[in-house]
Amino acid sequence: MQNAFKDKVLEGKVAFVAGASSGINLGIAQHFARAGAKIALISRSHEKIVAAAKTIADEGFEATGMAADVRDFASVDAAFKTAHDRFGKIDIVISGAAGNFVAPALGMSSNGFKTVVDIDLIGTFNVLRASFQYLNRPGASLISITAPQAVNPSMFQAHVCAAKAGINMLTKCLAMEWGPAGVRVNAISPGPIADTEGMARLAPSAEMEAAIKARIALRDYGTKTDIADTAMFLSTDNAKYITGTIVDCDGGSKLGDAGANALADFK
Ligand code: NAP
Ligand code: COA
Repeated sequence: MQNAFKDKVLEGKVAFVAGASSGINLGIAQHFARAGAKIALISRSHEKIVAAAKTIADEGFEATGMAADVRDFASVDAAFKTAHDRFGKIDIVISGAAGNFVAPALGMSSNGFKTVVDIDLIGTFNVLRASFQYLNRPGASLISITAPQAVNPSMFQAHVCAAKAGINMLTKCLAMEWGPAGVRVNAISPGPIADTEGMARLAPSAEMEAAIKARIALRDYGTKTDIADTAMFLSTDNAKYITGTIVDCDGGSKLGDAGANALADFK
């Protein structure tokens, strides 16, 4: 496999990253820029997304940050048009905008449930649907960021479970419909990732964090770079025959509770 940074494997490529003002998605954008891609970023906050783009520009790479709410198709479409006019056809799309809060179903209103479904699921449809006419076809790679909640029913996460399950199915449907145009559609399901807003919300104390790590096969949180490396693989010709898949990058956490010490007597 090529070395992403040594070989600049994304040189000449254009990547559009939704939900990129922070966290995992900004990590992917920064990683892709270092591998040679020009980057367009969107999120709701003009101030935050311009600052995020600046972190990339400050490293000497090309990036533009635009305010767009993924719940608003017209604003997403306008951002794609601006990115296309500036950088040319889009090779890679990352759809990672999301919202989460911890609440029982009886503690969330209809609008609370709808808000997360609108951002995560409808937002992902909007980003992928809007992207199509701006894509460099054949050869484009579309990647959504899903979550283990898509397949693991989780208490206090009914909204996220429903929304992310929808993203997994949308990934497979669009892979079938758009494959003939040479467009690959995949998703990445990160496990718990260190230093992110997502884990700050789900495991806000050191005790909760330690308890989660103790049950993961690889006994640690992942890093933003782990997810960016996975996205990099899916965005190159190394993955040119992969479409419609959900790639787990999770230290084995989706396998289940690996907390028992099965190695105790092994020397
Ligand atoms: P994060 O830093 O809060 O990232 C979420 C991003 O989405 C922010 O940039 C936010 O920016 C943007 N956003 C929110 N609502 C939006 C909207 N309506 N329109 C456009 N942008 C919007 O969280 P993260 O923890 O890195 O999570 C990133 C992705 O990874 C999410 O899809 C999450 O579900 C997934 N994930 C995370 C973990 C984890 O361990 N953290 C695990 C599994 C999956 P603005 O506030 O500026 O809009
Ligand atoms: N418990 C129950 N309901 C909640 C809630 C909580 N902790 N937080 C928000 N809600 C409800 C609100 O009460 C509101 O419902 P209502 O109108 O019936 O009162 C609804 O959700 C929408 O809230 P609002 O604050 O208007 O939404 P928003 O669009 O401004 O923000 C969120 C979206 C709520 C998802 C917000 O947490 C957010 O912006 N998150 C982005 C960052 C993030 O979640 N990162 C982690 C990604 S994994």
